[in-house]
Amino acid sequence: MNTLINDIEVIKTDQTTINNVDFDNLQFGHVFSDHMLECDYKDGKWHAPKVVPYGPITLDPSAKIFHYGQSIFEGMKAYKDEDGNILLFRPLDNFKRLNISAKRLAIPELPEAYFMEGLKALLKVDSDWIPKKEGCSLYIRPFIFATGKGFHASPADEYKFLISTAPSGAYFAGKLKVLIEEKYSRSANGGVGFAKAGGNYAGQFYPTQLAIEKGYQQVIWTDDNTHEFIEEAGAMNIFIRIKDTLITAPISDRILDGITRKSIIELAKAEGLNVEVKKITVSEVVAAAKDGSLKEMFGAGTAAVISPIAGFGYKDEDFELPELENTYAGFLKKRITDIQTNKCEDPFGWRY
Ligand code: COI
Repeated sequence: MNTLINDIEVIKTDQTTINNVDFDNLQFGHVFSDHMLECDYKDGKWHAPKVVPYGPITLDPSAKIFHYGQSIFEGMKAYKDEDGNILLFRPLDNFKRLNISAKRLAIPELPEAYFMEGLKALLKVDSDWIPKKEGCSLYIRPFIFATGKGFHASPADEYKFLISTAPSGAYFAGKLKVLIEEKYSRSANGGVGFAKAGGNYAGQFYPTQLAIEKGYQQVIWTDDNTHEFIEEAGAMNIFIRIKDTLITAPISDRILDGITRKSIIELAKAEGLNVEVKKITVSEVVAAAKDGSLKEMFGAGTAAVISPIAGFGYKDEDFELPELENTYAGFLKKRITDIQTNKCEDPFGWRY
């Protein structure tokens, strides 16, 4: 049956799979809700999005996504509060970043209304898929990829924008052990590190596999030039607490402008914590680990939320972080998730 929500055409599935989902034991991004948003770029313009049943799509084998990797994405989450309101966190920031990524990958920018109204219509249709359990959310994956045909190495003339969603639990189970990278690089100046390009993640898989074989879960990337400056981790930005100062690297051509990262900086400052956005070297972190002034390290991202790090490896040496009773990570995670899930005031105007 076709209906309209916020002027968006909705074609509903008649075969819901929601009853197959164990909402008490959700993994991250493993099962997908009944519908997705679909929007095509053809004949020089984006066409009105539709909510359609979730399912496979057909692509020509010469579609440029397969050959030249023209693909970008975003990560967002929806929550439901006790009154049943559907909540998003800074969604316009995701929309803006999607278009920043689009521009860098020579993908036509998407109109704001198609993103926002399409997303709202999709969430209304699949609102029963938003988990209510603490620590869970409906993970939202907006993405654009080149569907246009041809082996010529040039931007495609056709694209697809999809949003699919997945009721999800935590991205990481427990505290992380990370490896500081000395050889491989995630990105370089002038490259696409700041964009959420699919290829940025594909390029990390092999070095991350090597790290996993050594007993770590994530790589902490260092700058491509000297491998001396801490940049970000595979799925999140990185924060380091030395004594009582929380430090994170400034964003650049190489580092993703994480929405959780910038929210944590603002939140921590508002809470009176000492925050410094500055370059930090691996040598400083190793020295702090050795003299006991390194108190905490944690990752911050939409999927990761705030993920504490228990220890790190560097040049065949392992360093453990202290087990503190009251951590900045714990405090900031509670503050940000309370804001996201409407359990407290939102003085920043982030909740939507
Ligand atoms: C997110 O945090 O939403 C991301 O897109 C990172 C991804 C590796 C899960």
